[in-house]
Amino acid sequence: MVTLLNKVEDEYAKSVCLDFGNKPDALIEILHVVQNGSGFLSDGALRTIADSLNITRAEIHGVVSFYHDFKREAPAKQVIKICRAEACQAVGCDDLISNAETMFGVKLGKHNDDVELKEVFCLGNCALGPAIMIDDELYGRVTIKRLEKISAAHIAAKAGE
Ligand code: FES
Repeated sequence: MVTLLNKVEDEYAKSVCLDFGNKPDALIEILHVVQNGSGFLSDGALRTIADSLNITRAEIHGVVSFYHDFKREAPAKQVIKICRAEACQAVGCDDLISNAETMFGVKLGKHNDDVELKEVFCLGNCALGPAIMIDDELYGRVTIKRLEKISAAHIAAKAGE
């Protein structure tokens, strides 16, 4: 006789499902809560949710791939938003982006484990471009040297939390 055991791979996902009564109708809310708590939806979390809600993994993958808000990869430790709108273009944001890509080893719109470089269009700081935002903090007149210092300061601040 073969006994199949349902191994819980993600205790947090399991507890979130329990909070929602393991109801399949709550799938989207559960996915949002798990993502907010874990930063992304891991394979283990999706398998745990499928088992808890007694739905197929294909159903979950269909939902997750349909909604762009759901992330399947661990986010970078730091997201750097760089403005590419007109006023910032006029004062050299393209050079800043190019230098940032070289410095962090990642292309705009992509991420590695440490940094995600994200383009945005106007941070409301047009008179002080090039403008960037890290952790909801806005910076103006950013040069590549200044970006290096700002990034390091945010990483140090997070490490001290
Ligand atoms: S154009 Fe860059 S902050 Fe407005």
